[in-house]
Amino acid sequence: MNILDERFAEFQKLPTEEKLKCFEKNGRLFDMIISQQLNRKIIDNIYEITNHLRHISDSKAGSLFIQNILCHKRAMLYFTQPSSRTFLSFDSACHILGMKTSEIRDVSVSSEVKGESYDDSLRTFSSYTDLIIMRHKGQDTAERSAWLLNTHTNRPVPIINGGSGSDQHPTQAILDVYTLQRSFANQGGLDGKTILMCGDLKRGRTVRSLSYLMKNFEDIEIIFASPKPFQMKEDVRSFLERYKIPYHVETEALENVLSKADAIYMTRIQDEHDISAGDSSRVDTSRFKLRPSDMSKVRANAVIMHPFPRRDEIDVAIDSDPRAMYWRQERNGMWTRAALIAYIFNVHEEILNY
Ligand code: NCD
Repeated sequence: MNILDERFAEFQKLPTEEKLKCFEKNGRLFDMIISQQLNRKIIDNIYEITNHLRHISDSKAGSLFIQNILCHKRAMLYFTQPSSRTFLSFDSACHILGMKTSEIRDVSVSSEVKGESYDDSLRTFSSYTDLIIMRHKGQDTAERSAWLLNTHTNRPVPIINGGSGSDQHPTQAILDVYTLQRSFANQGGLDGKTILMCGDLKRGRTVRSLSYLMKNFEDIEIIFASPKPFQMKEDVRSFLERYKIPYHVETEALENVLSKADAIYMTRIQDEHDISAGDSSRVDTSRFKLRPSDMSKVRANAVIMHPFPRRDEIDVAIDSDPRAMYWRQERNGMWTRAALIAYIFNVHEEILNY
C-alpha cells in the first residue's frame, strides 16, 4: 500500500453523499462516476439537450454548428474491457461535438505492462486530453481516477465511467431512462410505471445503475426477476428501501410477472465474473427468457428493453414487435452521451439557444 492507496481507502470510507462532492466542480457535475450523482434537474437538462442535438443535427448547417462547439477539446477513450456500443457511441458522441478522440483498448498496449502503476498511467493520459471516458474491470477504478485527478493533480480532467466492473454503468442508465421517458411520452412519462428487470441482477452493472436512478422518479415500482443465485444485491435493495421505492422479487419464472410490467428490461448472464469457470452454466436460467409465446402476456403499451449484447434472453422473432425498443435504445445512447459531455463542459446553452 502506498500513500495514495491509504488516502483513497480513507476517502472510500466517507458516506456516499460526502464522496460525491469530490466529483463536482463549482456545484456542477464534473465527473460522471455513479448514478447517485444525478438528480431530476440534471437528468431533465440532459434530455432537453439530447432532443435539441438530434433536431439540430438533422441539417448540415446544424451539424456543422454542433461540431464547432467542442472542436478545441480532445477526449481519450480508455476501454480495457470489451465494448462495442458504449465505445462506439461515445466515440461518435465526441465527434458530433467536434472533439478529437484517441483510444487505448487493451492494457497490453499500455505502459502498465512495463510495470507502470495505474495512477501514473492515468496522469499520463490526462496530460494529453481534456476528458477521459473509461471502462475498466475494477469496480473502484473510475472512482479512484476521478479522486486522484481532482485531489492530487493540478490538471484534473473529467472522468466518465463507461462501465466499472460489475458495479455501475451510469451512462447506460441515462440512455435507458431517456428511452423510457420517450416511450411513455403519451402516458405521463416514466413516473408511476412498473419496471421489471430480469436476468443477472447480481452482477449486471446496467440494472444496478438503473435502479439507483429510479430515486428521481415518482411512484415507481420495480420487479426483480432472476434465478436465486443472480438476485439483486443488498446495497441496491437497501437504497430502494431508503428512498421508499417498492420492489418485488421473483425467482421462479419471468412469465409470472410479465403482465404486471410497463417496461421489461432483459439482461444477459455476466459469466465473465464467475469465480470458477462454468459457475453460471450450472444455474438454470431457462425460465428467465422472453419467447414469442410470452408476448400475449406483455401489456399492449409496454416496452421491451435490453442494454445488449444479447444472447438468447430475447428471441429474435420479437424484434419486429412494436414493443421491442432495444435498437432504438442503442441509438439513443449516442445522443444522450453527446448531451452529457456538452453538459459537463457547460456548453449546452449554445445548443439550447440555437
Ligand atoms: C452492458 C455492459 O457492458 O455492462 N452492455 C453495454 O454497455 N451496453 C451489458 C452487458 O455486457 O451485458
